[in-house]
Amino acid sequence: MATVITIDGPSGVGKGTLAQWLAEQAGFHFLDSGAIYRSLAYGVMRDKLALDDINAITALAKQLPVEFKAGAIIYAGVDITSIVRTEEVASVASQVAPIAAVRAALLARQQAFAQAPGLIADGRDMGTVVFPDADLKLFLTASAEIRAERRVKQLKKQGNDANINQIIQDIKARDQRDASRETAPLKPADDAITIDTSDLDINQVCQNALSLLHK
Ligand code: CDP
Repeated sequence: MATVITIDGPSGVGKGTLAQWLAEQAGFHFLDSGAIYRSLAYGVMRDKLALDDINAITALAKQLPVEFKAGAIIYAGVDITSIVRTEEVASVASQVAPIAAVRAALLARQQAFAQAPGLIADGRDMGTVVFPDADLKLFLTASAEIRAERRVKQLKKQGNDANINQIIQDIKARDQRDASRETAPLKPADDAITIDTSDLDINQVCQNALSLLHK
């Protein structure tokens, strides 16, 4: 059986960086569940589906033509790795993610990533819904302002323009939607260990998590 480590938390908290680093350290597989929701959002935009057309969005989620290949996200043969990182796609992702039928349609697909020797799963509900029996559950937090600063740096590195105030607003709006939604609201699993990363740099977060992994 595969060892499963879940890393959940809000947007821009450093989950992705930590999860990828841990996966490399441990030689484990990596699931970026947000990328699945973002790919669905891309498909919804591409196909011009209405955001309230639950049947059409669920049908797309059931046969989402996305593949993850060597760090790239390929949608129906098109490399969408960069485009899914935009705030526009993230916003649509957070609007389709609350649909219960969509989450159900994507569940088995996410669980299939749990293969030997192990998996690091990054998301919102990895420890609560997708892998409730995970071996180690981490929950990362940090203030919206700090997360926005980190996101601006990340976007600039990717050559994208960024407005800090707009991003703080977007993050707060997304936090609000993620925490208040009825389906899989963002919250730590009862048995999760919470790490507040506000005053930690990414290396400290990584070392912290690695020591928990080896406990
Ligand atoms: O990078 P960031 O944390 O901003 O977003 P992400 O993890 O790529 O997720 C994009 C959107 O998908 C989020 O706003 C969540 O609403 C949603 N999501 C989710 O509902 N469940 C997950 N397991 C992962 C993402």
